[in-house]
Amino acid sequence: MTNVSIFEATVEHFLAPIMSYMRDPDISEIMVNAPDEIYIERQGRVEKTDARFDDEEALLAAVKNVLQYTGKQVSQQQPLVDSRLPDGSRVHVILRPLCRTSTVMCIRKFAKTLLDADRLLELGSWTPEMMGYLRVCVQGAKNILLAGGTSSGKTSLLNVLSGFVPDDQRVVVIEDSAELDFQKPHVLSLESRPPDRWGRGEVTIRELFRSALRLRPDRVIIGEVRGGEALDVIQAMTSGHAGSMTTLHATGGLDALNRLETLAMMSTVELPLHALRAQIASAIDVLVQVTRFPDGRRMVTGSSEVLPLGDDGKYRIQEIFRYEPPAAGGEDRLTWTGQKSLFADQASIRKLREHWGQAGFVFGGEM
Ligand SMILES: Nc1ncnc2c1ncn2[C@@H]1O[C@H](COP(=O)(O)OP(=O)(O)O)[C@@H](O)[C@H]1O
Ligand SMILES: [Mg+2]
Repeated sequence: MTNVSIFEATVEHFLAPIMSYMRDPDISEIMVNAPDEIYIERQGRVEKTDARFDDEEALLAAVKNVLQYTGKQVSQQQPLVDSRLPDGSRVHVILRPLCRTSTVMCIRKFAKTLLDADRLLELGSWTPEMMGYLRVCVQGAKNILLAGGTSSGKTSLLNVLSGFVPDDQRVVVIEDSAELDFQKPHVLSLESRPPDRWGRGEVTIRELFRSALRLRPDRVIIGEVRGGEALDVIQAMTSGHAGSMTTLHATGGLDALNRLETLAMMSTVELPLHALRAQIASAIDVLVQVTRFPDGRRMVTGSSEVLPLGDDGKYRIQEIFRYEPPAAGGEDRLTWTGQKSLFADQASIRKLREHWGQAGFVFGGEM
């Protein structure tokens, strides 16, 4: 038997109680809180299931056996384990007593069919105007920061936006675990590596990013910034590496900039706050907000452009598209604020006139 088929047999055996969820493409997440308390996320909604493991021993055996095939071990010395299964799914395990009540396992399944731009329109996740606007921003090599909460659709949107990068450009992608999958001719995809169980061999996003800059990229796309690499990313964006895109965990607008600032301060390089803010304000051109609603729907809920730092040393942004909650009986909407884009008069954006599409008015065209 090949390694993969041995792995499949192992999974089949030890994960029998949740196997049907592993196979169901509508299910994106399987959350085992305890042997008899298992939740799933189906099309964005979290539901409790009747599935159960016989007892805690069976759950622990499942966890240990499955992890063994990923080269990871879980024990009282290593009670928190994050790993990736051969099919691309992420698994996270926490042993008792770190979770007081049980061994806990959460499996985030690898979504095989990522959404595309048209599918986002069908789902009502954005409008043709918003799509047109962001397409021009990507083609015009603006630096874009996508912000949203957990599972709000940041990675999916990044994937769609990456699809707008012109085909003749060389793109380097950096991720913690390869999720992005856009069909472009010239892409290098790099993946960071956690330390092994002796703490050796770690390769961070930050190291990969520094490498990436030496690979003559036209664009660098970073799956998510969550640490000191934020400063490197900001500095690269301000020093000629235009058209970069990344995501971060934050609500939109100013909060995203503040969060980026906090991450940049995790870097070992000390920079006066005012200087850091000025760099952030000049690095980031466009902020995009994505939101996951309680009913499981995901939506692009706004976008702003970043202005130079104010005289008071504070960030300033200009909203371009804004989310409007449903009026009585109506639907929620994403609407243009009436603000013209700050880039409207730039030659690179005017050159893209034929691509403005339904977003022309944002760049000063006719409504
Ligand atoms: N616009 C959308 N409409 C419906 N489902 C979506 C949408 N965007 C993402 N999803 C689904 O939501 C889940 C989380 O998406 P992901 O992009 O990984 O979010 P994040 O990166 O914010 O954690 C995935 O299962 C994905 O298929
Ligand atoms: Mg993500």
